[in-house]
Amino acid sequence: MDAIEVIVAKRDGGELTAAQIDWVIDAYTRGEVADEQMAALNMAILLNGMNRREIAGWTQAMIRSGERMDWSALDRPTADKHSTGGVGDKITLPLAPLVAACGAYVPQLSGRGLGHTGGTLDKLESIPGWRASLSNEEMLGVLRAAGAVICAAGSGLAPADKKLYALRDVTGTVESIPLIASSIMSKKIAEGTGSLVLDVKVGSGAFMKTPERARELAETMVALGTDAGVRTVALLTAMDRPLGRAVGNALEVQESVEVLAGGGPSDVVELTVRLAAEMLEAAGITGKDPAEALRDGSAMDAWRRMITAQGGDPDAALPRAADTMVVEAPASGVLARLDAYAVGLAAWRLGAGRARKEDPVSFGAGITLHAKPGDAVKEGEPLLTLHADEPARFGRALEALAGGYEVGPTAQEHLPLVIDRVT
Ligand code: URA
Repeated sequence: MDAIEVIVAKRDGGELTAAQIDWVIDAYTRGEVADEQMAALNMAILLNGMNRREIAGWTQAMIRSGERMDWSALDRPTADKHSTGGVGDKITLPLAPLVAACGAYVPQLSGRGLGHTGGTLDKLESIPGWRASLSNEEMLGVLRAAGAVICAAGSGLAPADKKLYALRDVTGTVESIPLIASSIMSKKIAEGTGSLVLDVKVGSGAFMKTPERARELAETMVALGTDAGVRTVALLTAMDRPLGRAVGNALEVQESVEVLAGGGPSDVVELTVRLAAEMLEAAGITGKDPAEALRDGSAMDAWRRMITAQGGDPDAALPRAADTMVVEAPASGVLARLDAYAVGLAAWRLGAGRARKEDPVSFGAGITLHAKPGDAVKEGEPLLTLHADEPARFGRALEALAGGYEVGPTAQEHLPLVIDRVT
């Protein structure tokens, strides 16, 4: 077999055979298929699609490219969640310890932010001492101590996806449903969780801009998980506006701690509790009320154990940016619209995100929202506070925000927080 045969088959709209898929993933992982050949194949897949059989084969081949973790020695069910990424989406931080406090083990492999969306590991690294890289034994130790662990995937897990994702990122081939679904699910299945809840974001701040595209992605991922023996359910949730009132690494940790302390913005609390209930149901755990575990402090206790077990100090002061700038409401009325993409892009330009994988992030950089869409605002009162280490960054952030918010007589229509559920 050779790479050209596989590329031409997909270029001409054909179906790839199981043997072609297995061969090309294996040969690419071993360096026998060149990056430019895999890039051409990815583009052919993006343009011509793959059917369910091809997507399942592609996912299985990526899982087989590396190790598979196994939590069967644990005495409680395992549950995980994955978000397709958004702006202000810090839900994993309160959710993992909350679900642990309700009786499941949560082995959560997370990623870093790229572009305008934040990454869970970057957020947690703003806690002094906290470590993202753990060996499999350390992961098990943290799980036993705290019930939840959030860490980076080791290099042995789905190495085909690591190579492929980096290639897709620079060849305009990220936005393909078969490639996104197989990328996410190969890692989640290899991670060995017994059940999985997918939070598929919809709107300007998400990969999927419309509910229809998000539903197609959700259905594809749920089918892949279910076929692999992982109880999988997906929620389609709103990302047309930022989640919560904080965007940026340390700012989002602060907001997550507020949620764990029984407070926090209502949309973050509502989504955290809803996703926790879905995870507990998928894990077969009954009779637990996640809202109560936020109120009674047991979720906060699990958070403190988890942070401490990963070298962090849950009581340490979080980094703050050196400078702030206030954006005032241009008129009195209602905050009619606050666009998730504009806010995410502005936070990225303030230093909260990175342009290239190897760039550092600024832990203190980001945006605080003083109003959410639908709130009354008064001319001249603070609408947003921008945080940055270098004042030179404020200008480009303001450019990103231009046209991204509107004050008017009434709120514009926005997506419901939970749009749909896919099983
Ligand atoms: N997240 C992933 O892990 N892979 C994708 O392709 C997109 C988002």
